[in-house]
Amino acid sequence: MSDNRGGHVPASGGAQRTAAADPCAPIRDAPADRPFVVAQLGQSLDGRIATASGESRWINREAALDHLHRLRASVDAVVVGIGTVLADDPLLTVRRVDGNHPVRVVIDPGGKLDGSFRCLAEDGVRRLVIRSGPASVPPGVDVLELPSEGGVISPRAIVEALFARGLRRMLIEGGARTISQFIDAGVVDRLHVLVAPMIIGSGKMGLELAPIARLADARRPPTRVHVLADGDVLFDCDLRAASKEV
Ligand SMILES: NC(=O)c1ccc[n+]([C@@H]2O[C@H](COP(=O)([O-])OP(=O)(O)OC[C@H]3O[C@@H](n4cnc5c(N)ncnc54)[C@H](OP(=O)(O)O)[C@@H]3O)[C@@H](O)[C@H]2O)c1
Repeated sequence: MSDNRGGHVPASGGAQRTAAADPCAPIRDAPADRPFVVAQLGQSLDGRIATASGESRWINREAALDHLHRLRASVDAVVVGIGTVLADDPLLTVRRVDGNHPVRVVIDPGGKLDGSFRCLAEDGVRRLVIRSGPASVPPGVDVLELPSEGGVISPRAIVEALFARGLRRMLIEGGARTISQFIDAGVVDRLHVLVAPMIIGSGKMGLELAPIARLADARRPPTRVHVLADGDVLFDCDLRAASKEV
């Protein structure tokens, strides 16, 4: 269980170097009276999260994986889209660092999940599936039914519904479509982008947000940069502060 936090330097947006260099501290210390949402994305230098054939393991290295587990240990719930479950069958547990497992939440509007997926396995941790209509789930798995419009369940409604169930701090772990929708909806406080010094050159992109015409409209969030011990780089972007600057 290595602590692979490396050095950090401030990046754009006037970020300052402080003693509180732990990028998970703002999540753990988030105010209790509202939801706090962190999204994470691991990608190559050219912004890819998979090859054209769909191979995605592994782009990031050990220290970035440790960081992902530290993020899971810092939140009450980890949220993924059904695409990630179908592609990777992730466990979504905390294994590489000390800490509690978060509640596991899968957004599966059309009911594609079945009990064979590992994140739904019974292990004493609450599991929750978000649906837009009635559907069966394996025993012991909770269902949260929310309306959808044009196939999309409002990310804000998802955040509010989880908060109402006592899940205050949420990690949107993936994949690209899910994270992009949550960012476009303006509900993400913090974005952690883990960049591996690797060029894939083609394949699946990470973020795909609503198009903008002018660079002046691009987000430029205050960002803190952490160089991890084995060379991957974490960009810790404060999206909430950026939205206040607009
Ligand atoms: N690099 C990383 O950090 C990272 C992390 C996780 C996953 N991944 C990779 O990402 C890929 C999967 O990503 P993806 O973009 O294809 O899929 P995804 O984001 O995991 O899942 C997208 C699907 O989830 C459902 N969904 C999510 N949010 C929704 C909302 N607000 N309303 C309604 N439905 C919603 C929809 O299901 P329906 O299609 O049923 O409508 C949507 O098509 C895999 O290759 C995986 O390996 C990478």
